[in-house]
Amino acid sequence: MDLESLEKKTSEMFWNIFKQPADGLTSCPGRINILGDHTDYLFGKAMPAAINRWTILGYSSTESGVFRFLSCEEDSQWQIKPDLSTDFSTLEPWQKYIYASLDLVKGLISHDKYQRLAKGLDVLIWSNIPFGKGLSSSASYELSLLHTLCKVANEPLSPSQAIETAQKIENTYLNLPSGRLDQVACQESKADKIMMIDFSASKIIQKNMHPNFQDWSWVCVDSGVKRSLDTSHYKTRVDECYQGLRLIQVRESTIKSFEDVTHEHLKFLEHHPIPKKRMLHMLGENERVAKGVLACQDGDIYALGQLMNESHLSLKNLHQVSCEKLDVLQDYAKHQDECLGSRMMGGGFGGCTLNLVKKSCINNFCKKIKEHFYSHYETTIDSFPLSLVDGVR
Ligand code: GLA
Repeated sequence: MDLESLEKKTSEMFWNIFKQPADGLTSCPGRINILGDHTDYLFGKAMPAAINRWTILGYSSTESGVFRFLSCEEDSQWQIKPDLSTDFSTLEPWQKYIYASLDLVKGLISHDKYQRLAKGLDVLIWSNIPFGKGLSSSASYELSLLHTLCKVANEPLSPSQAIETAQKIENTYLNLPSGRLDQVACQESKADKIMMIDFSASKIIQKNMHPNFQDWSWVCVDSGVKRSLDTSHYKTRVDECYQGLRLIQVRESTIKSFEDVTHEHLKFLEHHPIPKKRMLHMLGENERVAKGVLACQDGDIYALGQLMNESHLSLKNLHQVSCEKLDVLQDYAKHQDECLGSRMMGGGFGGCTLNLVKKSCINNFCKKIKEHFYSHYETTIDSFPLSLVDGVR
Protein backbone atom coordinates (compact mmCIF):
# COMPACT_ATOMS: atom_id res chain seq x y z
CA MET A 1 0.00 0.00 0.00
CA ASP A 2 1.26 3.52 -0.73
CA LEU A 3 1.66 6.18 1.95
CA GLU A 4 -1.48 8.10 0.97
CA SER A 5 -3.65 4.99 1.39
CA LEU A 6 -2.01 4.12 4.71
CA GLU A 7 -2.51 7.66 5.99
CA LYS A 8 -6.15 7.54 4.94
CA LYS A 9 -6.54 4.26 6.79
CA THR A 10 -4.93 5.75 9.92
CA SER A 11 -7.26 8.77 9.77
CA GLU A 12 -10.27 6.49 9.56
CA MET A 13 -9.03 4.42 12.50
CA PHE A 14 -8.49 7.61 14.49
CA TRP A 15 -12.06 8.70 13.81
CA ASN A 16 -13.45 5.29 14.80
CA ILE A 17 -11.50 5.15 18.04
CA PHE A 18 -11.52 8.75 19.29
CA LYS A 19 -14.84 9.76 17.71
CA GLN A 20 -13.37 12.94 16.28
CA PRO A 21 -11.22 13.71 13.23
CA ALA A 22 -7.44 13.79 13.59
CA ASP A 23 -5.93 17.30 13.49
CA GLY A 24 -2.99 15.89 11.58
CA LEU A 25 -0.72 12.96 10.79
CA THR A 26 3.02 12.43 11.11
CA SER A 27 4.53 9.71 8.93
CA CYS A 28 8.08 8.54 9.33
CA PRO A 29 9.70 5.75 7.25
CA GLY A 30 12.05 2.98 8.33
CA ARG A 31 15.40 2.54 6.59
CA ILE A 32 17.74 0.10 4.95
CA ASN A 33 21.48 0.52 5.11
CA ILE A 34 23.31 -0.27 1.91
CA LEU A 35 26.80 -0.01 3.36
CA GLY A 36 28.38 1.23 6.59
CA ASP A 37 27.25 -0.54 9.74
CA HIS A 38 28.65 0.00 13.22
CA THR A 39 30.43 3.10 11.95
CA ASP A 40 28.08 5.86 13.17
CA TYR A 41 29.16 5.73 16.83
CA LEU A 42 32.77 5.82 15.56
CA PHE A 43 32.20 9.02 13.57
CA GLY A 44 32.62 7.12 10.31
CA LYS A 45 30.49 6.81 7.17
CA ALA A 46 27.28 5.06 6.12
CA MET A 47 25.00 4.82 3.12
CA PRO A 48 21.36 4.35 4.17
CA ALA A 49 18.03 5.06 2.48
CA ALA A 50 14.46 5.37 3.78
CA ILE A 51 12.02 2.63 2.73
CA ASN A 52 8.32 2.34 1.99
CA ARG A 53 7.40 1.15 5.49
CA TRP A 54 6.19 3.74 7.99
CA THR A 55 5.19 4.64 11.51
CA ILE A 56 2.10 6.84 11.21
CA LEU A 57 0.76 8.88 14.10
CA GLY A 58 -2.71 10.41 13.98
CA TYR A 59 -3.17 13.17 16.55
CA SER A 60 -5.63 15.67 17.88
CA SER A 61 -5.38 18.22 20.68
CA THR A 62 -8.12 17.93 23.33
CA GLU A 63 -9.28 19.65 26.52
CA SER A 64 -8.95 16.46 28.58
CA GLY A 65 -5.84 17.52 30.53
CA VAL A 66 -4.11 14.20 29.77
CA PHE A 67 -1.97 12.74 27.01
CA ARG A 68 -3.66 9.62 25.68
CA PHE A 69 -1.81 7.17 23.41
CA LEU A 70 -3.23 4.16 21.65
CA SER A 71 -0.85 1.69 20.03
CA CYS A 72 -2.24 -0.57 17.31
CA GLU A 73 0.87 -2.78 17.49
CA GLU A 74 0.55 -3.30 21.22
CA ASP A 75 -3.24 -3.31 21.08
CA SER A 76 -3.06 -1.18 24.18
CA GLN A 77 -3.87 2.30 25.47
CA TRP A 78 -1.86 4.39 27.94
CA GLN A 79 -2.25 7.83 29.37
CA ILE A 80 -0.01 10.16 31.29
CA LYS A 81 -0.57 13.52 32.96
CA PRO A 82 1.34 16.57 31.66
CA ASP A 83 3.41 16.73 34.89
CA LEU A 84 4.79 13.35 33.73
CA SER A 85 4.46 11.88 37.23
CA THR A 86 5.12 8.19 36.75
CA ASP A 87 7.70 5.54 37.62
CA PHE A 88 9.71 5.24 34.39
CA SER A 89 11.17 1.85 35.36
CA THR A 90 7.73 0.23 35.44
CA LEU A 91 6.76 1.37 31.93
CA GLU A 92 6.51 -0.96 28.94
CA PRO A 93 9.07 -0.30 26.18
CA TRP A 94 6.60 1.49 23.85
CA GLN A 95 5.57 3.75 26.75
CA LYS A 96 9.19 4.56 27.62
CA TYR A 97 9.68 6.12 24.18
CA ILE A 98 6.63 8.32 24.75
CA TYR A 99 7.72 9.35 28.23
CA ALA A 100 11.22 10.21 26.98
CA SER A 101 9.82 12.21 24.06
CA LEU A 102 7.50 14.20 26.33
CA ASP A 103 10.23 14.84 28.87
CA LEU A 104 12.69 16.02 26.21
CA VAL A 105 10.13 18.17 24.41
CA LYS A 106 9.17 19.74 27.75
CA GLY A 107 12.81 20.82 28.14
CA LEU A 108 13.08 22.02 24.54
CA ILE A 109 10.08 24.28 24.20
CA SER A 110 8.98 27.31 26.23
CA HIS A 111 6.71 26.95 29.28
CA ASP A 112 3.85 28.63 27.41
CA LYS A 113 4.13 26.26 24.48
CA TYR A 114 4.18 23.25 26.83
CA GLN A 115 1.03 24.60 28.52
CA ARG A 116 -0.62 24.60 25.12
CA LEU A 117 0.29 20.92 24.69
CA ALA A 118 -0.72 20.17 28.30
CA LYS A 119 -4.37 20.99 27.56
CA GLY A 120 -4.61 17.43 26.28
CA LEU A 121 -3.74 15.21 23.36
CA ASP A 122 -4.98 12.00 21.73
CA VAL A 123 -2.52 10.02 19.62
CA LEU A 124 -3.02 6.87 17.56
CA ILE A 125 0.17 4.93 16.77
CA TRP A 126 0.24 2.66 13.74
CA SER A 127 3.22 1.03 12.00
CA ASN A 128 4.08 -1.52 9.33
CA ILE A 129 7.82 -1.54 10.06
CA PRO A 130 8.61 -4.95 11.51
CA PHE A 131 10.09 -4.53 14.99
CA GLY A 132 13.58 -5.83 15.83
CA LYS A 133 14.49 -6.58 12.19
CA GLY A 134 17.15 -3.93 11.65
CA LEU A 135 14.78 -1.62 9.72
CA SER A 136 14.78 1.21 12.29
CA SER A 137 11.30 0.86 13.68
CA SER A 138 12.58 2.63 16.83
CA ALA A 139 14.04 5.73 15.18
CA SER A 140 10.92 6.03 13.06
CA TYR A 141 8.77 5.89 16.22
CA GLU A 142 10.98 8.43 18.04
CA LEU A 143 10.92 10.95 15.20
CA SER A 144 7.20 10.68 14.66
CA LEU A 145 6.54 11.23 18.38
CA LEU A 146 8.87 14.23 18.62
CA HIS A 147 7.56 15.94 15.50
CA THR A 148 3.97 15.34 16.58
CA LEU A 149 4.45 16.81 20.05
CA CYS A 150 6.30 19.87 18.78
CA LYS A 151 3.77 20.45 16.04
CA VAL A 152 0.88 20.41 18.52
CA ALA A 153 2.83 22.80 20.75
CA ASN A 154 3.24 25.02 17.68
CA GLU A 155 7.02 24.93 17.85
CA PRO A 156 8.12 22.71 14.94
CA LEU A 157 11.44 20.90 15.32
CA SER A 158 14.25 21.50 12.85
CA PRO A 159 15.68 18.33 11.25
CA SER A 160 18.92 18.61 13.26
CA GLN A 161 17.06 19.13 16.54
CA ALA A 162 14.84 16.16 15.76
CA ILE A 163 17.84 13.91 15.02
CA GLU A 164 19.71 14.99 18.14
CA THR A 165 16.67 14.66 20.40
CA ALA A 166 15.71 11.25 19.01
CA GLN A 167 19.25 9.99 19.67
CA LYS A 168 18.95 11.30 23.25
CA ILE A 169 15.90 9.09 23.79
CA GLU A 170 18.13 6.06 23.16
CA ASN A 171 21.33 7.30 24.81
CA THR A 172 19.86 8.93 27.91
CA TYR A 173 16.58 7.17 28.66
CA LEU A 174 17.11 3.70 27.18
CA ASN A 175 20.79 3.51 28.02
CA LEU A 176 21.85 2.51 24.50
CA PRO A 177 25.09 4.01 23.17
CA SER A 178 23.72 4.08 19.61
CA GLY A 179 24.82 6.57 16.95
CA ARG A 180 22.70 8.66 14.59
CA LEU A 181 22.51 6.46 11.51
CA ASP A 182 18.85 5.57 11.91
CA GLN A 183 17.63 9.03 12.86
CA VAL A 184 19.48 10.78 10.03
CA ALA A 185 18.24 8.25 7.48
CA CYS A 186 14.60 8.39 8.60
CA GLN A 187 14.63 12.18 8.82
CA GLU A 188 16.67 13.24 5.80
CA SER A 189 16.24 10.64 3.01
CA LYS A 190 15.01 11.66 -0.42
CA ALA A 191 12.99 9.31 -2.60
CA ASP A 192 15.08 7.22 -4.98
CA LYS A 193 18.32 8.82 -3.83
CA ILE A 194 21.29 7.32 -2.16
CA MET A 195 22.62 9.17 0.84
CA MET A 196 26.14 9.17 2.19
CA ILE A 197 26.46 10.34 5.78
CA ASP A 198 29.81 11.41 7.13
CA PHE A 199 29.29 11.38 10.89
CA SER A 200 32.63 13.04 11.60
CA ALA A 201 31.65 16.22 9.80
CA SER A 202 27.86 15.78 10.25
CA LYS A 203 27.71 16.01 6.47
CA ILE A 204 25.18 14.41 4.12
CA ILE A 205 25.62 13.90 0.39
CA GLN A 206 22.61 12.80 -1.68
CA LYS A 207 22.99 11.31 -5.14
CA ASN A 208 20.66 10.00 -7.80
CA MET A 209 21.02 6.30 -8.48
CA HIS A 210 22.64 5.76 -11.88
CA PRO A 211 20.15 4.46 -14.53
CA ASN A 212 22.06 1.16 -14.52
CA PHE A 213 20.31 0.40 -11.22
CA GLN A 214 16.80 0.66 -12.63
CA ASP A 215 16.52 -3.06 -13.35
CA TRP A 216 17.64 -3.91 -9.81
CA SER A 217 15.75 -3.85 -6.56
CA TRP A 218 16.41 -3.99 -2.81
CA VAL A 219 15.02 -7.15 -1.22
CA CYS A 220 14.97 -7.85 2.51
CA VAL A 221 15.11 -11.43 3.72
CA ASP A 222 14.11 -11.87 7.34
CA SER A 223 16.20 -14.41 9.27
CA GLY A 224 13.39 -14.68 11.82
CA VAL A 225 15.92 -14.00 14.59
CA LYS A 226 14.56 -11.14 16.65
CA ARG A 227 17.11 -8.92 18.26
CA SER A 228 17.05 -6.04 20.62
CA LEU A 229 20.03 -3.75 20.96
CA ASP A 230 19.87 -3.70 24.75
CA THR A 231 20.13 -7.47 25.04
CA SER A 232 22.68 -7.77 22.26
CA HIS A 233 26.39 -7.19 22.46
CA TYR A 234 25.99 -3.75 20.91
CA LYS A 235 27.26 -1.94 24.01
CA THR A 236 30.20 -4.33 24.25
CA ARG A 237 31.18 -3.52 20.66
CA VAL A 238 31.11 0.20 21.40
CA ASP A 239 33.31 -0.35 24.47
CA GLU A 240 35.77 -2.52 22.54
CA CYS A 241 36.19 0.19 19.91
CA TYR A 242 36.88 2.83 22.57
CA GLN A 243 39.35 0.46 24.20
CA GLY A 244 41.15 0.20 20.85
CA LEU A 245 41.21 3.97 20.49
CA ARG A 246 42.64 4.45 23.99
CA LEU A 247 45.35 1.87 23.37
CA ILE A 248 46.38 3.69 20.19
CA GLN A 249 46.29 7.07 21.94
CA VAL A 250 48.70 5.81 24.62
CA ARG A 251 51.28 5.16 21.89
CA GLU A 252 50.43 8.06 19.58
CA SER A 253 49.33 11.21 21.33
CA THR A 254 48.29 13.01 18.13
CA ILE A 255 45.27 10.70 17.76
CA LYS A 256 42.28 12.61 19.06
CA SER A 257 39.42 10.52 17.75
CA PHE A 258 38.46 7.56 15.57
CA GLU A 259 38.73 9.73 12.45
CA ASP A 260 42.47 10.06 13.01
CA VAL A 261 43.11 6.29 13.12
CA THR A 262 44.71 4.75 10.01
CA HIS A 263 45.90 1.21 9.16
CA GLU A 264 49.36 2.33 10.24
CA HIS A 265 48.20 2.66 13.87
CA LEU A 266 46.99 -0.93 14.08
CA LYS A 267 50.55 -2.02 14.87
CA PHE A 268 49.89 -0.66 18.37
CA LEU A 269 47.13 -3.24 18.79
CA GLU A 270 49.32 -6.24 18.03
CA HIS A 271 48.71 -7.76 21.46
CA HIS A 272 45.05 -6.80 21.57
CA PRO A 273 43.31 -8.96 18.95
CA ILE A 274 39.72 -7.94 19.78
CA PRO A 275 40.11 -4.15 19.57
CA LYS A 276 42.30 -4.70 16.50
CA LYS A 277 39.53 -6.59 14.70
CA ARG A 278 37.01 -3.87 15.57
CA MET A 279 39.31 -1.14 14.25
CA LEU A 280 39.94 -3.13 11.08
CA HIS A 281 36.20 -3.35 10.52
CA MET A 282 35.82 0.38 11.06
CA LEU A 283 38.57 1.29 8.60
CA GLY A 284 37.40 -1.18 5.95
CA GLU A 285 33.73 -0.25 6.28
CA ASN A 286 34.45 3.47 5.89
CA GLU A 287 36.50 2.73 2.78
CA ARG A 288 33.68 0.59 1.38
CA VAL A 289 31.16 3.41 1.85
CA ALA A 290 33.41 5.82 -0.04
CA LYS A 291 33.78 3.29 -2.88
CA GLY A 292 30.05 2.51 -2.74
CA VAL A 293 29.14 6.14 -3.39
CA LEU A 294 31.32 6.11 -6.50
CA ALA A 295 29.80 2.82 -7.65
CA CYS A 296 26.28 4.28 -7.33
CA GLN A 297 27.31 7.41 -9.16
CA ASP A 298 29.09 5.53 -11.97
CA GLY A 299 26.43 2.84 -12.28
CA ASP A 300 28.85 0.05 -11.36
CA ILE A 301 26.25 -2.37 -10.01
CA TYR A 302 28.73 -5.25 -9.76
CA ALA A 303 31.15 -3.21 -7.67
CA LEU A 304 28.35 -2.22 -5.29
CA GLY A 305 27.27 -5.85 -4.92
CA GLN A 306 30.83 -6.92 -4.22
CA LEU A 307 31.20 -4.22 -1.56
CA MET A 308 28.02 -5.45 0.12
CA ASN A 309 29.40 -9.00 0.25
CA GLU A 310 32.68 -7.74 1.68
CA SER A 311 30.83 -5.66 4.26
CA HIS A 312 28.98 -8.75 5.45
CA LEU A 313 32.19 -10.70 5.88
CA SER A 314 33.69 -7.85 7.88
CA LEU A 315 30.62 -7.61 10.13
CA LYS A 316 30.73 -11.38 10.56
CA ASN A 317 34.44 -11.98 11.10
CA LEU A 318 35.86 -8.69 12.37
CA HIS A 319 33.08 -6.88 14.19
CA GLN A 320 31.35 -10.18 15.03
CA VAL A 321 27.77 -8.93 14.99
CA SER A 322 26.21 -11.46 12.62
CA CYS A 323 24.59 -14.78 13.53
CA GLU A 324 24.40 -18.22 11.93
CA LYS A 325 21.04 -17.74 10.21
CA LEU A 326 22.07 -14.41 8.67
CA ASP A 327 25.29 -16.05 7.42
CA VAL A 328 23.35 -18.93 5.84
CA LEU A 329 21.08 -16.45 4.03
CA GLN A 330 23.94 -14.24 2.88
CA ASP A 331 26.10 -17.10 1.69
CA TYR A 332 23.26 -18.56 -0.38
CA ALA A 333 22.17 -15.20 -1.84
CA LYS A 334 25.61 -14.13 -3.00
CA HIS A 335 25.95 -17.27 -5.12
CA GLN A 336 22.72 -16.67 -7.06
CA ASP A 337 23.09 -15.13 -10.53
CA GLU A 338 20.16 -12.77 -9.99
CA CYS A 339 21.66 -11.37 -6.77
CA LEU A 340 24.66 -9.04 -7.01
CA GLY A 341 25.31 -8.62 -3.30
CA SER A 342 23.94 -9.46 0.11
CA ARG A 343 24.67 -8.37 3.67
CA MET A 344 23.30 -8.25 7.17
CA MET A 345 22.13 -4.79 8.06
CA GLY A 346 21.77 -2.56 11.12
CA GLY A 347 22.74 -3.57 14.64
CA GLY A 348 22.98 -7.25 13.71
CA PHE A 349 22.67 -10.38 15.90
CA GLY A 350 19.51 -11.12 13.91
CA GLY A 351 17.09 -9.22 11.71
CA CYS A 352 17.21 -9.07 7.92
CA THR A 353 19.71 -9.36 5.12
CA LEU A 354 19.60 -6.76 2.36
CA ASN A 355 19.97 -8.11 -1.18
CA LEU A 356 20.47 -6.38 -4.52
CA VAL A 357 18.30 -8.48 -6.85
CA LYS A 358 17.36 -8.27 -10.53
CA LYS A 359 13.79 -6.92 -10.63
CA SER A 360 12.52 -9.51 -13.09
CA CYS A 361 13.79 -12.32 -10.81
CA ILE A 362 12.54 -11.18 -7.39
CA ASN A 363 9.84 -13.85 -7.07
CA ASN A 364 12.20 -16.61 -8.08
CA PHE A 365 14.93 -15.35 -5.75
CA CYS A 366 12.53 -15.16 -2.79
CA LYS A 367 11.17 -18.64 -3.51
CA LYS A 368 14.63 -20.18 -3.76
CA ILE A 369 16.04 -18.55 -0.64
CA LYS A 370 12.99 -19.56 1.39
CA GLU A 371 13.34 -23.16 0.23
CA HIS A 372 17.04 -23.10 1.06
CA PHE A 373 16.37 -21.77 4.56
CA TYR A 374 13.61 -24.31 5.07
CA SER A 375 15.94 -27.14 4.11
CA HIS A 376 18.31 -25.97 6.87
CA TYR A 377 15.96 -25.01 9.68
CA GLU A 378 12.46 -26.27 8.73
CA THR A 379 11.24 -22.72 9.27
CA THR A 380 9.39 -20.52 6.80
CA ILE A 381 10.78 -17.02 6.51
CA ASP A 382 9.54 -13.79 5.05
CA SER A 383 11.11 -11.73 2.26
CA PHE A 384 9.97 -8.52 0.60
CA PRO A 385 11.16 -5.99 -2.01
CA LEU A 386 11.39 -2.38 -0.90
CA SER A 387 11.44 0.97 -2.62
CA LEU A 388 13.21 4.15 -1.53
CA VAL A 389 11.11 7.04 -0.25
CA ASP A 390 11.33 10.50 1.35
CA GLY A 391 12.09 10.93 5.04
CA VAL A 392 9.59 12.03 7.72
CA ARG A 393 6.66 14.26 6.80
C1 GLA B 1 21.57 0.25 15.18
C2 GLA B 1 21.89 1.57 15.87
C3 GLA B 1 22.60 2.52 14.90
C4 GLA B 1 23.79 1.85 14.21
C5 GLA B 1 23.39 0.48 13.65
C6 GLA B 1 24.57 -0.27 13.11
O1 GLA B 1 20.63 0.40 14.18
O2 GLA B 1 20.72 2.18 16.35
O3 GLA B 1 22.99 3.69 15.59
O4 GLA B 1 24.88 1.77 15.07
O5 GLA B 1 22.76 -0.32 14.64
O6 GLA B 1 25.08 0.36 12.01
